[in-house]
Amino acid sequence: MNAADSARERAEGLRQELERHNRAYYELDAPTISDAEYDSLFRELQALETAYPALVTPDSPTQRVGGKPLAQFAPVTHAVPMLSIQTETNTDASGAEHFDSRVRRELELDSADAPVEYVAELKFDGLAVSLRYENGILVQGATRGDGVTGEDVTQNLKTLRDIPLRLKGSAPPLLEVRGEAYMRRDDLARYNEKARAQGEKPLVNPRNGAAGSIRQLNPRIAASRPLRFFAYGIGAVQGWDLPATHQALLDALAGFGLPVCEHRAVARGWQELADFHDRMGKHRPHIPFDIDGVVYKVNRLALQNQLGFRSREPRWAVAHKYPAEEAQTVVLAIDVQVGRTGALTPVAKLRPVFVGGVTVSNATLHNEEEVRRKDVRVGDTVIVRRAGDVIPEVVNVVPDARPATAVPFELPITCPQCGSHVMREEGGVVVRCSGGLVCPAQAKGAILHYVSRRAMDIEGLGDKLVDQLIAGHHVKTPADLYSLTLPTLAALDRMGEKSAVNIIQAIEQSKQTPLARFIFALGIRNVGESTAKDLARHFGSLDSLQKTALQAADAKAAAELVDDKTERKKALITALEAFTKISEIGIGIAESIADFFAEPHNREEIARLITAGAFQEGAVSSEASRSAILAGKTFVLTGTLPTLKRDEAKEQIEAAGGKVSGSVSKKTDYVIAGEEAGSKLNKAQELGIPILDEAGLLRLLGDA
Ligand code: IVH
Repeated sequence: MNAADSARERAEGLRQELERHNRAYYELDAPTISDAEYDSLFRELQALETAYPALVTPDSPTQRVGGKPLAQFAPVTHAVPMLSIQTETNTDASGAEHFDSRVRRELELDSADAPVEYVAELKFDGLAVSLRYENGILVQGATRGDGVTGEDVTQNLKTLRDIPLRLKGSAPPLLEVRGEAYMRRDDLARYNEKARAQGEKPLVNPRNGAAGSIRQLNPRIAASRPLRFFAYGIGAVQGWDLPATHQALLDALAGFGLPVCEHRAVARGWQELADFHDRMGKHRPHIPFDIDGVVYKVNRLALQNQLGFRSREPRWAVAHKYPAEEAQTVVLAIDVQVGRTGALTPVAKLRPVFVGGVTVSNATLHNEEEVRRKDVRVGDTVIVRRAGDVIPEVVNVVPDARPATAVPFELPITCPQCGSHVMREEGGVVVRCSGGLVCPAQAKGAILHYVSRRAMDIEGLGDKLVDQLIAGHHVKTPADLYSLTLPTLAALDRMGEKSAVNIIQAIEQSKQTPLARFIFALGIRNVGESTAKDLARHFGSLDSLQKTALQAADAKAAAELVDDKTERKKALITALEAFTKISEIGIGIAESIADFFAEPHNREEIARLITAGAFQEGAVSSEASRSAILAGKTFVLTGTLPTLKRDEAKEQIEAAGGKVSGSVSKKTDYVIAGEEAGSKLNKAQELGIPILDEAGLLRLLGDA
């Protein structure tokens, strides 16, 4: 085989392979290779075709790109005009009913006649185009224009990789395919992300994106836009026996390799049309591209011919709309809301606008990073979207409409609800209020947690009651519970004298709770029951915990000022060592503890709780005082002790506030070694950890 022959063979192979990947990507939505791999195959084919120009075929994937920019588009006269379509603006079922009764009247059917058969399709929100195939080869692509004369946008349409350059099967000598060029929302988002990163203007929405791209004079720009195509009808045809129905026609187009949308149905009578409208309306938020309604078409082509046209609109088709999901409006302000967990969410206050079937005056901006990414400013004109039941959101800014006075948004450094400091989670996008105990936005959650069984265990204070107490301004924070009076409680809705007495009693009984429970009740972020126990055991007193937390918070604040990222991380770890040396406590928990106690509002609240008698610092029973002896100390037992069994030794250590761990580490304070002690003893010696025998342990416990 000579060089030219092997080049021909390779080119043919590459073409087929590229076409196969195209199909996987566009028809099956399942890419089989990466974009880079695709590009590399593509470039190989391009190189072969440059070396052997005779190898170029009209359907070669290389023919999709490479055209030169045009000065202007050439006009194209449509052999069969591209019609427009009548619209039923009524978005309820009556739209379907109107259309059906009009069709029946025109066809002179009466109520005794069978229902008319229709095809229901989606109404794609893009740009109508016509593709002319001669002997199966795409020779021309045109816009609709005024319906009679459009523009020749062949170069641009060839860049749409889901438009076949050659039809599959036995294509007729002439076939004009009518359909819609459109952009998927996810494709647009990805495109815009890249565009922003490169400092280019993002596309305003999929519809503008599609229309603007098709009408680009430079085909390279069109090629860079993620456009797609759906076929929904035909224009001029020669040498083809048309199928009897529109549904069969769409199947035939799909058989030629043209993309036809899967969401279509044959419907008999108006009720089934209305059902389709309803079904697709509900499905609309999940469809990856925008639709602004559905289209109904009489199924039998013979009946379509019989019905004919009125001016520029066929009598056999209608568009049945949905409420618009997107609208333009102006950002009047950007507020900051505080969620139940303290997360700060920026919310755009909008000039009220009707969208998605309701009037919208607020839209979420999700978080600070999102605001920055979309660069939304007060005064901006924005696109708002409300799809289905989802919360309205700002999709993007209309860049050309920005007033000179627009100021970039910044989150406040204190909580707009309670004035506490806000904390930015390292690396995270969430910014949170640290005043968990006192913040009104978090009040209900904080109180319900405080009274819960595993915390202060105050019975009778349920969800509804707490709602009432907050709404009636009787309680703002947990400390307020202790000033509740019998008359106040008894006067509440659905509250008898007896229940009120029970609650007052439950509050009294909960006083002088153990430290661990009290710490847990404070609702420190990331501090659960077992961490609370670790903290209580380690520090022995609230005072000591608070002092350590404050020192850690100071060191943490200093660490945060370190410029270098690795150094900053190191400094942070050192700052929080007093906590992280306690086993089970990681850096995240340590940060939460430091943040919590660093917030003055929280410390004030704790002081109020103590004053109210919720927890008594000094008043420790003899058992409790003993339990502080080994507070915070970690022991490892190894070998056989002379008198104490392993379990007994463990029990005594724990009763004295210590902790027993299974393995020796830098965090171990003492190793208690008996006979036949093994590797743990060696490890302790290596690490220089104090080693005691049983007598030594008993001395520590004060028993010897
Ligand atoms: S059929 C004979 N089917 O709606 C009727 N049009 O005014 C010709 N459109 O911009 C159109 N989805 O591009 C038809 N499934 C669909 C459609 C559809 C969107 C657009 C079309 C044109 C407008 C018709």
